[in-house]
Amino acid sequence: MQVFREIKPLRAYLDAKRAEQATIGLVPTMGALHEGHLSLVKGSVDDNDITVTSIFVNPVQFNNPGDLAHYPRTLDEDLAMLQRYKGQVVFHPSANEVYKQEPMITLGFGPLGKTLEGQFRPGHFHGVGMVVAKLFNIVKPHRAYFGQKDLQQFAVIRRLVEDFSFDVELKCMPIIREPDGLALSSRNKRLDPDERQKAAKLYEALGIAHDLYRRRVSPDQVKKEVEGFFSMSDVTLEYFEIVNASSLNPLQSTFANEPVALCIAAYVGEVRLIDNLIIGNEY
Ligand code: PAJ
Repeated sequence: MQVFREIKPLRAYLDAKRAEQATIGLVPTMGALHEGHLSLVKGSVDDNDITVTSIFVNPVQFNNPGDLAHYPRTLDEDLAMLQRYKGQVVFHPSANEVYKQEPMITLGFGPLGKTLEGQFRPGHFHGVGMVVAKLFNIVKPHRAYFGQKDLQQFAVIRRLVEDFSFDVELKCMPIIREPDGLALSSRNKRLDPDERQKAAKLYEALGIAHDLYRRRVSPDQVKKEVEGFFSMSDVTLEYFEIVNASSLNPLQSTFANEPVALCIAAYVGEVRLIDNLIIGNEY
């Protein structure tokens, strides 16, 4: 396994591999790896000769300094996990290596950047777009792997690729969950045992909403039911929305003939969690 901390030698290494016709997959992460991340790595290892997993806690995408300070950093364990896969290259740069200067460009993503997460995390998708664009230009991957867990992030990156004409194939990988349905997340490490138990309520709420939606209950009414479900618990709902899975525009009626996503964000104690469910398999 090759570990690079600097852009120049990584580029030289990958240029040589590309000259040998090797295909390159990129898996961008912020580390604290779990089986969700590893499912992306597995997907890339299956499709490509080389997989570059980046481990970089990107300061520009954090709008809450506390969240950045508390973000788990477990490099030794991460590297041990990645060792299991063939063709692994790890890119673990410093913040200075990635951001020689503060970016002057601002990425907004129009309405896509303002809805759902965008309402509560101003500047977040600017930071995500900026670092992913840099990674695309540094690694020049044939394919890049992202999780459906961050559905809006995937939608934003799809527009980034379209708007900047990046020559990369995007793959959206399914959400990996705990047995009780909780979506795996690096943030789960911050939950105490009591909170960990309560965190399963996000997935439970998505199940209830899915059921109501299938029974043709209107989106407004489904929203009210979900809000009611959380009003009686100590999990604090931030938003629940029924949206078109691609545009992320709110759905007006349950008879819509389009891929639909149920999206949720909630606080369990101090920890903010997100989850979603896509209805239909056209995504
Ligand atoms: P991070 O939160 O580390 O996630 C890295 C990738 O793993 C993302 O594409 C995310 O959607 C995916 N992922 C997380 N939990 C998952 C799960 N339970 N099942 C499947 N995939 C899962 O997302 C980021 O980092 C950053 O924003 C990044 C794209 C690296 C840019 O900094």
